[in-house]
Amino acid sequence: MVVKGRALHAPARGMLEMFDAAFVVDDTGTIVEIARGDGPAGQVLIPGMVDLHVHAPQFPQLGQALDMPLSQWLREKTFPLEARYADLAFAAEVYRSVVECLLGNGTTTAVYFATIHLPATQKLAEICLRAGQRALVGRVAQDDAGQCPDWYRDASAELAEAETRALIAHVRGMAGNAAGLVRPVITPRFIPACSDDLLGRLGRLARESLCHVQTHCSESDWEHGHVRDRCGMTDTAALAGFGLLGRHTVLAHGVFVSEADAGMIRQAGSGIAHCPLSNAYFADAVFPLRRMLDAGVHVGLGTDIAGGASPSVLDSARHAVIASRYLESGVDARTPAGARGCAGARVSAAEAFWLATAGGGQVLDVPVGVFRVGYQFDAIRMAGGGAASNLRLRAQDSPEDVLHKVIYTAARPDIRDVWVAGRRVAGTG
Ligand code: GUN
Ligand code: FE
Repeated sequence: MVVKGRALHAPARGMLEMFDAAFVVDDTGTIVEIARGDGPAGQVLIPGMVDLHVHAPQFPQLGQALDMPLSQWLREKTFPLEARYADLAFAAEVYRSVVECLLGNGTTTAVYFATIHLPATQKLAEICLRAGQRALVGRVAQDDAGQCPDWYRDASAELAEAETRALIAHVRGMAGNAAGLVRPVITPRFIPACSDDLLGRLGRLARESLCHVQTHCSESDWEHGHVRDRCGMTDTAALAGFGLLGRHTVLAHGVFVSEADAGMIRQAGSGIAHCPLSNAYFADAVFPLRRMLDAGVHVGLGTDIAGGASPSVLDSARHAVIASRYLESGVDARTPAGARGCAGARVSAAEAFWLATAGGGQVLDVPVGVFRVGYQFDAIRMAGGGAASNLRLRAQDSPEDVLHKVIYTAARPDIRDVWVAGRRVAGTG
């Protein structure tokens, strides 16, 4: 098939390219040729966005209870909600709606935490495959009796490992998934919720299965401090010791990672899912995005539904810019300007766009996020105008103008077509 239009992408961090293209896509969804095309005014094709960190079961509480600290929010709101996914019918209904919502928002690749329930997690993987969303799906493992209530905890490390193995086999064996559109991801919730035994088992399984790994890392003062007290080291160092820090590891948040941690993450080739909206509620600090990028760490964006209240990676990109600006300027006007912030901390809208697309693809080691021959055709067509839209694209807009308008003003009504692997899977038409 062929898709024509004015294309805008970020082939390297901070770089923008806009060109009128005709994308020739084969039946595996791979871009096989990029010919000259014509781009109608007022529309733009961008690469599909990558959400590196989503809790699918938390969708029903999107926007709720964000005035609580993280540990209370988990105990009082999130664990009771997640425990309900023992009910497969409830799970199927929520999971269908979250996948549809994310696709409609232009998320062509999503990295999902599910719950501790194997059947519901298998169902999420099936729903992603049927809806045509590129996804990594993880069955949450959490067996620590101190941090997890007995009604929402793995009965043993053995059981958590066995069900993780079963999920891997199920996802890899699903009919219609030979190309690996949906993949399994090993998912220890975070160190506080897991025993050393479980973390070690999952580290060995990661090496054996060559699966991706995801977990939360150095998210907040409480979480980071808890791991330091228990393990005598940072989350990053502890995860490395358990064999959980590899090329295909996604660390959510990483707000409190040290320079030494960043060196370890870079060397391992792991990546960080930056979730700026969630960080505003739970993290107690601003993620040092510029420092991590300068240290050579792979970084992409996450929504952290429902720690963040938006299902849109465009919102994450916007908030990544804004958070970095607050970090640079500082936040307390009573402090003198020179002592108020972190010089050089800002990122540009173009860099945030790269994080939302190519950066996410790089973290996952999947060929998406850039319009390039050999890459998958995961893309969005945006067009503004009309009563439901704030987006106004004009024929004379420069690449920067288009990018800034998309990052700062576009929303779901503007997302007219969404393709994953060359298949149209969503859009307002
Ligand atoms: N740490 C452990 N579990 C969670 C979760 O569900 N959300 C967030 N934001 N942090 C966590
Ligand atoms: Fe999270």
